[in-house]
Amino acid sequence: MIGIGAGDPEQLTLQAVRALRSTDVFFVLDKGEAKADLVRLRRDMLETHLPEGTYRVVEARDPERDRGAGGAAYSPAVGDWRSARAGIYERLIAEELGEDETGAFLVWGDPALYDSTLGILEEILERGTVAFEYDVVPGISSVSSLVARHRTGLNRVARPVQITTGRRLAEGFPEDADDVVVMLDAHQTFRRYADQDIDIYWGAYLGTPDEILDSGPIAEAAPRIERLRAEARERKGWIMDTYLLRRNPGER
Ligand SMILES: C[S@@+](CC[C@H](N)C(=O)[O-])C[C@H]1O[C@@H](n2cnc3c(N)ncnc32)[C@H](O)[C@@H]1O
Repeated sequence: MIGIGAGDPEQLTLQAVRALRSTDVFFVLDKGEAKADLVRLRRDMLETHLPEGTYRVVEARDPERDRGAGGAAYSPAVGDWRSARAGIYERLIAEELGEDETGAFLVWGDPALYDSTLGILEEILERGTVAFEYDVVPGISSVSSLVARHRTGLNRVARPVQITTGRRLAEGFPEDADDVVVMLDAHQTFRRYADQDIDIYWGAYLGTPDEILDSGPIAEAAPRIERLRAEARERKGWIMDTYLLRRNPGER
């Protein structure tokens, strides 16, 4: 399992490049028309770092996820989707990989952060139908990318930082942290906090040629980000964005 960074081929680590070079087969999951760009970015990374003809790429269709399931139904829906994915990965490993070959899953950003590939490989091993060993190569996450581009840190001196999802942020601003990184937010949840003393550091398509950055006091930045987001979505058909909310502790 190779973390490939959040989009910039130059953010692959030397360890990742070494792992790419010792791979025979790359498994690439296609998430449909809108995400075809992400498959292209992965293929570009391989073409940048590997001699032609030294590897195979096997593409498969990602199962549809029941995104409508909210509240208590959310976890089972994710569980079903993970199992469906495990079935596909299991078949790919069994059918596409020779006995002595090495396969690799290219994981966006860092495999440890909001990614299910680790859990899926463990589920396959538990099923016991195919046997394999695997290693994890860490990657530069979109969170590291975001704060680097904004030339800021994640935490303030001796203070905690929390990484969470848009869904969680909608339930309330975390009580124990004033620095909060939000991922997987399709609903621009930051808008709920636009009347508070908070700075936002926002980034979309980080590390890619389409990268967009904005930052500032949330009251001023939120409407700008909403506009930028809508324009980008319209233009590209999909968006991937992350942001850091930095609250003035006096706001609590
Ligand atoms: C399923 S998570 C995967 C995170 C990934 N493992 C990582 O380390 O960045 C997908 C979320 O990561 C964030 N993300 C990933 N790549 C990004 C990028 N290039 N620009 C902005 N956000 C990104 C977005 O919040 C997106 O909703």
